[in-house]
Amino acid sequence: MLQRHLILGQTLAFTADPFHVPLGEAVRHERRGALLIEGGRIAALGATDALRAANPEAPVTDYGDALILPGFVDAHVHYPQTAIIASWGKRLIDWLNGYTFPEEMRFADPAYAAETAARYLDLVLAEGTTTVCSYCTIHPESVDAFFAAAEARGMRAVAGKTCMDRNAPEGLRDTAHSAYDDSKALLERWHGRGRLSYAVTPRFSPTSTPEQLEALGALWAEHPDCLMQTHLSEQTDEVAWVASLFPDARDYLDTYERFGLLGPGAVFGHAIYLKDRERARLKEADAALVHCPTSNTFIGSGLFDMGRAVAARQRVGLATDTGGGSSFSMLRTMAAAYEIGQLSGTPIHPAQLLWLATSGSARALRLDDRIGRLAPGMEADLVVLDLASTSAIAQRAARADDIWQAVFPTIMMGDDRAVRATWVNGRLSGRAGRS
Ligand code: GUN
Ligand code: ZN
Repeated sequence: MLQRHLILGQTLAFTADPFHVPLGEAVRHERRGALLIEGGRIAALGATDALRAANPEAPVTDYGDALILPGFVDAHVHYPQTAIIASWGKRLIDWLNGYTFPEEMRFADPAYAAETAARYLDLVLAEGTTTVCSYCTIHPESVDAFFAAAEARGMRAVAGKTCMDRNAPEGLRDTAHSAYDDSKALLERWHGRGRLSYAVTPRFSPTSTPEQLEALGALWAEHPDCLMQTHLSEQTDEVAWVASLFPDARDYLDTYERFGLLGPGAVFGHAIYLKDRERARLKEADAALVHCPTSNTFIGSGLFDMGRAVAARQRVGLATDTGGGSSFSMLRTMAAAYEIGQLSGTPIHPAQLLWLATSGSARALRLDDRIGRLAPGMEADLVVLDLASTSAIAQRAARADDIWQAVFPTIMMGDDRAVRATWVNGRLSGRAGRS
């Protein structure tokens, strides 16, 4: 018989997208809520009293006033950049050459890759993140290390071998051929194994020849149930460089589109400097954009236009972009998204921030039928937030009139001290549990 377990606390359950549906209809807040977990899934959701009465035999974990949410979903990260997070003073291209590529070189060593993957996943679990979509390095070993570490923790994860066959140093380049062959072998090994799935991963068009982009387009066409992830229009210098490398392309997006790398399941990181044609094609193709706010300020990229993306009903996810981003925390990432929204004239409501960090990212990764919401049948990945984790937050939350005022100080000022527990696949995760 499957083990049943009751988890008690405040709950927030989204039933619709709060960017498009009034709050009262999009989300249900239960002050004394409960989740019944069974076999790694949410079996029921409701009021504490009702679920306790219906399941008197189930063991109980009571988190009191803490807020139970779906585990955070980080839709764009580079786990190999864990050790170079917060590297000073450079913008994108110099940052890649000066910090990133030398570090990614080290992942030729499987032991280093395994150690970093484990450290990275333990760090994010402590921040309440239960799913990430990661770039690896050009080394197949870096992909094996990442998936093995995610599998060992029971996490749902997406990743792919980063492909680069030009404009990268010796030792960090593959070829069109080997990128296809290695990606295919990795995809066959890992895609659909347990909670893992594969993303075809050209780094960005400056580091791939047209031949490599074409080969990866062909691979994706052969495996359309995989995601395809890459970077798009992050910095103005990069956009100009792409135009010079692809003189025939209509715009940056076209450097992917012409090689079959645009379609449902395409996930584009950053997407700041988009032309009207690109916006229209991204929408038509039902591709996803991933907003990486701490990265966009840290590397000095610019302001993502959430207002336009939402108005177009584009799929939008939220991400740390570790380690171009300056934090492993999705709380910090929501705070940065709020700040960028303010600078762009789009104040993002706490409900919308929480939705982006859970359902929005899950939807961007096409995993929203499995993760990102508290609802019966969904996988039981949870974060439990203490809404008074520091004295500064507690004194502000004490003045709150509703759940949104109660949670917003934690979004803006919270860190891993706010993460009371992280549950993965119906089990308390060892590293984050502080109850
Ligand atoms: N564009 C291409 N590679 C990268 C990367 O590793 N990080 C960021 N932020 N942008 C990129
Ligand atoms: Zn990135």
